[in-house]
Amino acid sequence: MDMIAQGKERVKWASKFMPVLGEIEERFDEDNIFEGKKIGLCLHITPETAYLVEILVKSGADVMLTAANPISSQPDIIEYLKNKLNVKVLGFRGMSDEDYKKAVEKLIDWGPDYVLDDGADLVIAAHKKGCTSLKGATEETATGYYRLLKYEDENMLNIPVIATSFSFCHNLFDNKHGTSQSVIDGIIRATNSMLSGKTIVVIGYGQCGSTFAKKVKGLGANVVICETSPQKALEAVFEGFSVKKMNEASKIGDIFCTFSGNINVIRKEHFLNMKDNAIVCNAGHFDVEIDLKGLEEITENSERVREFVREYTLINKNRINLLTEGRIVNMTAAEGHPAAVMDISFSLQLLSLELFLQDDGTMEPGLYEVPEYIDESIANLKLMSFGVEIDDYTKEQLHYLENNEMMLV
Ligand SMILES: NC(=O)c1ccc[n+]([C@@H]2O[C@H](COP(=O)([O-])OP(=O)(O)OC[C@H]3O[C@@H](n4cnc5c(N)ncnc54)[C@H](O)[C@@H]3O)[C@@H](O)[C@H]2O)c1
Repeated sequence: MDMIAQGKERVKWASKFMPVLGEIEERFDEDNIFEGKKIGLCLHITPETAYLVEILVKSGADVMLTAANPISSQPDIIEYLKNKLNVKVLGFRGMSDEDYKKAVEKLIDWGPDYVLDDGADLVIAAHKKGCTSLKGATEETATGYYRLLKYEDENMLNIPVIATSFSFCHNLFDNKHGTSQSVIDGIIRATNSMLSGKTIVVIGYGQCGSTFAKKVKGLGANVVICETSPQKALEAVFEGFSVKKMNEASKIGDIFCTFSGNINVIRKEHFLNMKDNAIVCNAGHFDVEIDLKGLEEITENSERVREFVREYTLINKNRINLLTEGRIVNMTAAEGHPAAVMDISFSLQLLSLELFLQDDGTMEPGLYEVPEYIDESIANLKLMSFGVEIDDYTKEQLHYLENNEMMLV
């Protein structure tokens, strides 16, 4: 099968698991709501993103796309987008940092009306280049939100940006269930390990780590949590986990997975405590959580023993199996989030983009969260796709709740 046909087939497959986007597609299609608008995207070039692009193109947009990450771009999807949808694709697999920067700049020079960003590079480039065409942006990641918060604090943000990563639906699908499932997938694809009976050390019991911990416990693993926050550690204890300092946990773990968003949470002294053949990986966004320099310093020999696995023989003769060079394991050894997760993330972005059109340029510059009613409508559409119906308040209940509120005031 040629690349274009393969790309098309994979986009079709992904779209089957994106029913909320499908509903939005039908509505947008009828209204042609992006007619004449130039929309720039900086996203992972995957089948799910291609489905989002299909919807934008079908509803009238002129689209330019660059990659959010040099290793996540999928060549068959790029071919499909370029040849079948006539989309300008600037990203490619294996692009260098320099290529990436040039692509971001080229996209801004093109003069987009709106951008869908992932990490805030497009919005920041637009500000640095004095782009005047841009009327609004959506931001997918918390990292991007915090970068833009600095701009806002310094009164430098001159467009409205809707950050989608704090909405209830995004949190539930992406941070909690999408990440935890795909991290398990990444570990299994990289190692083919059985998780039952293993001791898995989870470093960071936040949104992602706590859901991962519960899922691997369900698969029969003994789970040990390491935390720095007393509240999170207490939550882990109340949820039935053993909580230990990393110094102790490092002596008993078979598999270690970092979810802290912090630097060097697994260090030299921990590697030297580990059992022979321990497996170590990172699920955090940046490859800073495992101290690779420290690991090299205590290594006698290292070799690639399997795709995605490098074995380090330490000075104490124990072997450590490091997955995906310490990079984000679910995006590298597995396929990242399942389509069902991106269904929610992209629906939030599309409905936020629609807000800019409805608002007709009157939204003040600044950072916004997704309005509650959009989050609620997406949850409703997802429930409908599962065939789940829920109750409405009765008039009496509404009256009771409103009355109670008044009493509180
Ligand atoms: N793999 C993915 O697809 C994916 C998806 C979403 C987020 N992430 C990344 O995962 C990381 C965690 O995200 P989150 O939303 O769970 O964040 P979070 O802030 O909810 O959780 C992080 C937890 O780590 C703890 N922590 C910080 N330093 C620590 C240390 N030295 N030792 C032990 N615990 C420590 C914090 O107290 C916190 O409870 C971030 O880097 C985020 O960008 C990855």
